[in-house]
Amino acid sequence: MATVALVTGANTGIGFEAVRGLLQKGMTVYLAARDAAKGEAATAELASEGNVHFVRIDTTDPDTFQPVLDRIEAEHGKLDILVNNAGAAFPGKVYDIEPDVLRLCLETNLHGPVQLTQLALPLLRKSDDARIIMVSSGAGRFDFYATGGGMMEPGTAPYGYGLSKTGMNVATALFAAHLEKEGIRVNACNPGYVNSLVSRFMGTRTPAQGAEIIIDLATTDSKATGKFFDYDGRELSW
Ligand SMILES: NC(=O)c1ccc[n+]([C@@H]2O[C@H](COP(=O)([O-])OP(=O)(O)OC[C@H]3O[C@@H](n4cnc5c(N)ncnc54)[C@H](OP(=O)(O)O)[C@@H]3O)[C@@H](O)[C@H]2O)c1
Repeated sequence: MATVALVTGANTGIGFEAVRGLLQKGMTVYLAARDAAKGEAATAELASEGNVHFVRIDTTDPDTFQPVLDRIEAEHGKLDILVNNAGAAFPGKVYDIEPDVLRLCLETNLHGPVQLTQLALPLLRKSDDARIIMVSSGAGRFDFYATGGGMMEPGTAPYGYGLSKTGMNVATALFAAHLEKEGIRVNACNPGYVNSLVSRFMGTRTPAQGAEIIIDLATTDSKATGKFFDYDGRELSW
């Protein structure tokens, strides 16, 4: 039976390359995007790589979640791998971020992915090797805010983005603890500083390099759960 994966925010960047990598491993992949035209174009581009299907998910619109899960259930009866990759950068520091921007950031990067994960649990429980992969960030580490991560002055980091990724790390630890007895693995990863919109195309790694840790977590035999992995597979402290 095919391994079935769902990757959000997969029309471009790291998510797109993660879909490519999972297809190359022989998986059936549902490529989720919020924009149907972009999602369909990306799916067409990857069609020669394997069994890929476009589905529409906007993480700020929970009404888009269940129809996708229903379709996967009807077509496969299970979901093996959920990759919460969708995310965006939002402007504003802790001393000046607009409340509406902060709300949108948390909905996009944290609340939507957490709700999607909640709704996907019944389908993941039907897999005998279920995994949830949270695409977090080095900016989700609390240490980052003490040091600026070597990239910026401490105290000037974007607030909403960091909060959303720190929150994603909390969700990872809590989902992992809740699901460990059932054998469902939940891990977070940092794809590194990748050349994409999120880094304003200043990242030094390619999206394909950023996707490597996602593909590793999706395919590894390791039973590790509740961990945070760097792009090179080393475990990170929270
Ligand atoms: N690039 C980096 O240096 C870096 C570092 C650490 C972590 N990350 C994380 O890696 C993940 C992928 O980012 P990327 O670098 O590949 O950036 P990207 O090229 O901008 O891709 C982000 C993806 O998320 C989608 N997205 C944004 N808002 C969404 C929403 N409300 N609903 C559904 N999808 C939405 C985007 O769709 P549209 O094309 O429609 O906007 C796009 O498909 C993100 O979670 C990001 O935070 C990136």
